[in-house]
Formats: sequence, structure tokens, C-alpha cells
Amino acid sequence: MPLLITLILICAALKGIQSVYTVTHVAVEIGDTLQIPCQYESHYTNHVKYLCRGYAWGSCDYVIRTDQRDSVKYSISDDKSQRIVTFTFKNLQLGDADHYWCNIEIRSGRDDGERFQLSVNDKGKSKLHVDSQWVTGYFGDEVTIYVRYSGSGFKQWCRFDGTCIFNTGHINEAWVTTNTSVPGVFAVTMSGLQQGNIGWYWALFQGLQMPVFLDVTERPTTTTIATTPALSTATTESTSDSSSVTTEQRRVSVVIKAAAIVLGSLIFIVAASLVVCYWLKKHTKKSEEEQRSPEESTDVPVYSNICKAPKPQQNPCVDKDTEILYSSVSFVPNQASRKVNAKEEDVVYSTLAPR
Ligand SMILES: *[C@@H]1O[C@H](CO)[C@@H](O)[C@H](O)[C@H]1NC(C)=O
Repeated sequence: MPLLITLILICAALKGIQSVYTVTHVAVEIGDTLQIPCQYESHYTNHVKYLCRGYAWGSCDYVIRTDQRDSVKYSISDDKSQRIVTFTFKNLQLGDADHYWCNIEIRSGRDDGERFQLSVNDKGKSKLHVDSQWVTGYFGDEVTIYVRYSGSGFKQWCRFDGTCIFNTGHINEAWVTTNTSVPGVFAVTMSGLQQGNIGWYWALFQGLQMPVFLDVTERPTTTTIATTPALSTATTESTSDSSSVTTEQRRVSVVIKAAAIVLGSLIFIVAASLVVCYWLKKHTKKSEEEQRSPEESTDVPVYSNICKAPKPQQNPCVDKDTEILYSSVSFVPNQASRKVNAKEEDVVYSTLAPR
């Protein structure tokens, strides 16, 4: 346990040192559009961010800035809530291959930044490639990202902060499995998607990274309504197409799941209301018993010591401002009804006789 805490503290400290964080090397193919995310610390939220081209710090050329308009080729967007600035390169050509900087402008000092390398290859020649850098999944559902690679070596799937999965594991709420059974394809399946899974990831292979953004949305409710009639027709139709069978089976399982959820909720509601009814019934019965008990019990209440005194000093049982004070409500056994000894002139008393 202390080891774990130490590790966490070391990780936190290391993360704190790096206030701008981005990829190190990305390879694309001619004509590709590429998005490069770059994370920054919260104290840079309101600073100007810019993309700078050139290997050497200090002699790089501005490409695009958050306080200037996008160009045809480059655009920049700053998500201040996620603290991620994203650079978009369109229609990349061989001549675009270079080193670039994700920089933060600091008015009163040296700018902060992180450098990354961009390689551009001919079509089909990239060592690590994805068809789309944008993947969408539904909450609770799963999504598979297919990453093409060429060559051999470890392939990893990483969250933007550097949490990597070699084989299987958790990334936030999602369960991640990888499959390399198809040569040249690194398939990453993330299941049980939740809000915390929205964000940037990257595939890592031979020192190359490929950023992929995962968006998780609500499943549109209209599709389930639309698929229900299709289900009834499909089951009566011939089932020659195996792929349609699996999708129909999936739909059936979705419908069954939905029905189970509805049924389960109903049972719960009924059970809950039964418990509440039973409790209420018991409770009211109990209070009725409590109310009835003086009459039913053998003891009968006798109200005594009804004081009526003209002068407060003479009678200690009367308050200054009140004329009548009811006190000492007591239960006496049936056979004996006692009277209270008091001075005749001070006290007027009455007795409820037992029934
Ligand atoms: C990996 O993918 C192949 C082909 O899609 C599939 O046959 C196999 O069952 C998968 N393996 C695992 C462990 O999911």
C-alpha cells in the first residue's frame, strides 16, 4: 500500500513537471487530414496557443494562433474545459513533414511548449494508420478501433495522459481488449463506455503515435422503435443471410434486455409499495392501539389537583398569570379511587369515576 501511494505521488509529480503535453511522432499519408491534440495545465487556460514549425526552439515559424483566423490548410481549436488545444492539418503533402511545436504564449517571459514530429508517407506506406481519427460510441455500449500497422513490435492503446493497455485492462470505466489475430490490424475494443471515456487516445507502435478521439453519446431512442417492426418481419422471413441473422439476434437481445429492465422495475415498484403499505398499516394499527389503550386497560385515569386559587402566594401549585393549572394526571387501580388531601378553601377538585 505505501508503495502504491509513493508511485501515485511520483506520477503526480512527473505530470506536474510537464505543463504542455502532446504526441512525439505522428506519421500520415499524402492527402490525409490530421488532428494533433495538445494538453496544457490550467494556469495556461487563457493564454494564446500557437503552432510553430521548425526543429529549433526560438527559430520556429508561426503557423497558426488561437488569436488569429484559421487558414485553408490549418485550423486551431482550444477546448478550455478539457484544457486541450487541437491543431488540424488538411491535405498533407510530403513537404509538410517537419518538426512542430505546440506552444503557449507567455507575455512576460519565455513561451512554454512541446515539440512533435510529423512524417508524411505515400499512400499505404504509413507504419501506423487509422481510417478515421474520430470514433463514436453509445453509453454502455462498445466500440472497436481498427489501427493498421506494418512491421513487428509491441502495439499499445493509450489514454491521452499516458495510461496504456498492452493486452487487456481498464481505461476509466471501460474494459479494453486488443486483438491482433488479423495480420497488420491492431483491433482495440472498448466496452461499457461511459462519460469518462470521452476524449483523446492514441495507438502506439514503433515510437509512432496515432491520436484518436472517442466521443460517447446517448443511443438515439428512435432506432429501437424503428427496429421493433423489422424484428417481427425478419423472423418470419428466410434467414439465409448470416450477417442479418446476427444483427437480428442482437436486436432480439436488446428487446429482451429492455423488457427485462421494464419488468424488473415493475416488480421492484410493486414490492416497494407492498412494503410501504404493510408498514403504514402496522404503524396506524399501533397508534390506534396506543390511543385506545387507556380505555381498554384496567387502569382508569383520575384527573386531580385542579387548583383554583385567588392568591398565588398562598398556593404553590398556581402560576402568577394563570388561574387554572391541570397537573398530576395519574392512573390508579380500578378498585381504589383516591382523593387528594388539600385545603378546602384553596382547591376545587373533581374525580372521573371508573367505569
Ligand atoms: C480476434 O479477432 C478474430 C477475427 O475477427 C476473431 O475470430 C477472434 O475470436 C478474436 N479473438 C478474441 C480473443 O476476441
